[in-house]
Amino acid sequence: MALIEDLKWRYATKKMNGQKIPKEKLDYILEAARLAPSSSGLQQYKIIVISDRALLEKIKGFSYHQSQITDCSHLLIWIAWDGYSDDRIEGVFNDMMDERNLPHNTMDSYRKTILNLYEEAGQEWQAHHAAKQSYISFAMAIAAAAEQKVDATPMEGFIAEKLDELLNLKGSGYKSTVILPLGYRQTENDWLVNMKKFRIPKDKFIVEMTIDDASDIAEPPMEQTLDDFTQK
Ligand SMILES: Cc1cc2nc3c(=O)[nH]c(=O)nc-3n(C[C@H](O)[C@H](O)[C@H](O)COP(=O)(O)O)c2cc1C
Repeated sequence: MALIEDLKWRYATKKMNGQKIPKEKLDYILEAARLAPSSSGLQQYKIIVISDRALLEKIKGFSYHQSQITDCSHLLIWIAWDGYSDDRIEGVFNDMMDERNLPHNTMDSYRKTILNLYEEAGQEWQAHHAAKQSYISFAMAIAAAAEQKVDATPMEGFIAEKLDELLNLKGSGYKSTVILPLGYRQTENDWLVNMKKFRIPKDKFIVEMTIDDASDIAEPPMEQTLDDFTQK
C-alpha cells in the first residue's frame, strides 16, 4: 500500500523552490534507476546528473523555459544508445559473465541471435528500442523519488537535438531521451499542487481477455524456444 500512497502523493511539479535534496536521497533515487530491468539486461542507457546552475540555465533555454530546470536541486538526463553493435552488446555481456564467473562465450548464441534481429530492424528501430528501455529506469526513479518525498517532474518538453549538442553527445553513441528535475514543490506558487489527480478509471483502463476474445489467426507455433539460445 505504501507505494500506492506515494504515487498518489507525487505529481508533475510545476514550481520548485530551489531547495537541495540530501545526497542520500539522490543516491537512493539513482540506485533505483540503476536497478531497473532492461531488454536482455543491456542497460542501453546512462544517467547524467547536473546541479551546475550555469549549465541548468542553458538547458532551460532548450526546454521551453520550464522553471523546474533551474529551480530543481538536480536534473537527471537519461541518454540511450543510438544503435546496437556487436561490440556494444559483447562488452556488456562480457562484464556480466565476469561478474557471474562464467566464460565470456556463455551467451554467444543468444547474443548473435539478438544482434541479427536488431540489425534486420534497422538503426532507427534500434535507437527507439534503447530509448524505450531508458523509460523503465526513468519510471523507477519517479517512484523512488515519491517514496523519498522528493518532488520530480517527468519531462519530454525539451529539444533533444539541441540538448545533445550542448552536452557534447554528438558522436558519443548516445542520445538524450527524457529528463527529470528533482527538488521540492513551491506549494504557494504551483497551480497543480492542489488539483485532484486525474487517471482513467479502472474499468476503462484494465481489460481482461479470454480465448473467446482472441482471433483465430492461424500462425504456426514458433519452432525455437528462447532456451535454444540461452542454454549452454
Ligand atoms: C514522458 C513524460 C513527459 C512529460 N513531459 C512534461 C513536461 O515537459 N513538462 C511538464 O510540466 N510535465 C510533463 N509531464 C508530466 C505529465 O503531464 C503528467 O505526468 C501527467 O499529466 C500526469 O499527472 P501527474 O504526473 O501530476 O500525476 C510529462 C510526463 C511524462 C510521463
